[in-house]
Amino acid sequence: MEATAYRQLLPPGGPTDARTHVEALMRAAVPERAQRPYTLVNFVASLDGHTTLGPDSRGLSGGADRELFYALRERADAVLVGPPTLAAERYKRMLPAPERRAHRLAQGRPAEPLLVTISRRGQIPLDLPFFAEREARALIFSPSPPVAARLAATVVHAGPAPLAQALRTLRADHDVRLLLCEGGPTLFGALLAAGLADELWLTLVPRLVGGASGAALLSGAAPQAPAPARLAGVLEHAGTLFLRYRL
Ligand SMILES: NC(=O)c1ccc[n+]([C@@H]2O[C@H](COP(=O)([O-])OP(=O)(O)OC[C@H]3O[C@@H](n4cnc5c(N)ncnc54)[C@H](OP(=O)(O)O)[C@@H]3O)[C@@H](O)[C@H]2O)c1
Repeated sequence: MEATAYRQLLPPGGPTDARTHVEALMRAAVPERAQRPYTLVNFVASLDGHTTLGPDSRGLSGGADRELFYALRERADAVLVGPPTLAAERYKRMLPAPERRAHRLAQGRPAEPLLVTISRRGQIPLDLPFFAEREARALIFSPSPPVAARLAATVVHAGPAPLAQALRTLRADHDVRLLLCEGGPTLFGALLAAGLADELWLTLVPRLVGGASGAALLSGAAPQAPAPARLAGVLEHAGTLFLRYRL
């Protein structure tokens, strides 16, 4: 697998690749003992703050962003996604590259992170390529079990739960220490309002989108006061900035 070289601007450092970068940071950040998983939220946005181009974010994301995105998935124990994002982004298998799955298996971990989604209305889009994947695993917090004629994936129904309780369940019952939230803006708003987000990883692509395309990074529930974020790291590749904030 050819690795993209990123310039590390903050803290100042030499060139790095996505896997080395993510593994080193998360080794230091994820606590051994905790009541809930250490939670990263990952977004890609245009310079003017749009998070979609057309129906989803794929038009915003470039090769270097995707590489960091997959390095985060490779390191995460579980990936949390809101039902609208699952549907809009047409979720497929978590780690398409066999080399990444082999790397996890060699570490004694499941080949792919667990997909977690949470819904209060119980409307989970099951007609996605992800659920047709035999090796895929999903955990669904929702009022009633998902109903579908035939799912190849292993899907466990966990009942309804507020976000804080769902995260405690992930840590206690599924050994999820690092949780990667892939959004969208409503779920991020709810995590932030409940004090459950530890870091924001924001890819800022050098494009101005304009118009009515795409929501801002955050919508729905708002934090009590503007939430502070401390810049903890910056990478750069071909004009795209990869920002890491502690929340
Ligand atoms: N640029 C990027 O990096 C990026 C990343 C992710 C998504 N996106 C885009 O964002 C859009 C979707 O975002 P979205 O904001 O509409 O939806 P979302 O954040 O993906 O999911 C929101 C849903 O989460 C469920 N939920 C469960 N517990 C909740 C709680 N405590 N508070 C609030 N919601 C809770 C609700 O589903 P129920 O109503 O069923 O309860 C709610 O409708 C898509 O267009 C996607 O392409 C962009």
